Amino acid sequence: MVGKLPYIRRSVISEMSVGLKDMFPVEAADMSLRDTVPEKDQPSRQDVWKMFDRIAHHYDLLNRLLSFGRDVAWRKKLAAQVGPNQRQVAVDLACGTGDILLSLYRYCPQVVLGLGVDMADRMLRLAKTKLAAFNSERPIPTSLLRADACALPLETASTDLVTIAFGIRNVTDVGTALEEMYRILRPGGRALILEFSLPSNRLVRSVYLFYFRSILPRLGGIISGDRYAYRYLNETVESFPYGKDFCDLMTQSGFSNTKETRLTFGVATIYSGDRIDGDGKV
Ligand SMILES: C[S@@+](CC[C@H](N)C(=O)[O-])C[C@H]1O[C@@H](n2cnc3c(N)ncnc32)[C@H](O)[C@@H]1O
Repeated sequence: MVGKLPYIRRSVISEMSVGLKDMFPVEAADMSLRDTVPEKDQPSRQDVWKMFDRIAHHYDLLNRLLSFGRDVAWRKKLAAQVGPNQRQVAVDLACGTGDILLSLYRYCPQVVLGLGVDMADRMLRLAKTKLAAFNSERPIPTSLLRADACALPLETASTDLVTIAFGIRNVTDVGTALEEMYRILRPGGRALILEFSLPSNRLVRSVYLFYFRSILPRLGGIISGDRYAYRYLNETVESFPYGKDFCDLMTQSGFSNTKETRLTFGVATIYSGDRIDGDGKV
């Protein structure tokens, strides 16, 4: 039901920490930045979100600069792969400053309700500001939730669309995150994943790797003041599965019709997978 955010487990609803209710036309209890992260120790990538928290205020600028503006086009292409079903609920994991939700709202009239999930408070606060500005043009009930993509406090089979852009590489356990994405999808729902990959053309790949290893970490470090963040980027991208290997991971997590769309010489890839009926996983 639009405006009620039925997909959030009642147990995670707590006091509002940020006054989102003033900016979004939904019930006050649904618009808090909620914190549901378990306190137990986690593997090392658990703390990656802290790095994003540190660089949050430079994040959008660096995205535009370091991708030569391509990231905007990539998000638009992701939106073009949203299924045609009307009145879809969308959950964007590792939502950062909210750019995927904004693309969905701009290009997919079939998306009528959104939830952004991230671990970094500062990212969520920036998302809140950007989404509120958009909301004055086209009001779409939206909620932001601080939670781990590997342990979503969301009901099973509660959403039509789940997305994650440049986030799956950062989670503690890729398989668990994919299973969570599958779990929260309704039968007939779709997952769309945007992630960096490596060009297959050897010449393009060597030019790209030079840029990626030598220039990007330096530029990113100078602008953000955090050299580690942009060294981390190229180290994780080079070791992360892509192409068919990643489609296989999606299939192992239950997805059907998995497909890859390579973008800009293969520098990034959109992965798509559907949850279909009758496999006993609901
Ligand atoms: C590279 S940014 C991507 C942001 C956004 N999706 C975009 O397209 O610009 C990665 C995001 O993942 C978040 N993140 C890292 N680990 C996470 C986790 N376990 N669960 C949820 N979000 C996480 C970070 O806080 C950060 O905002």
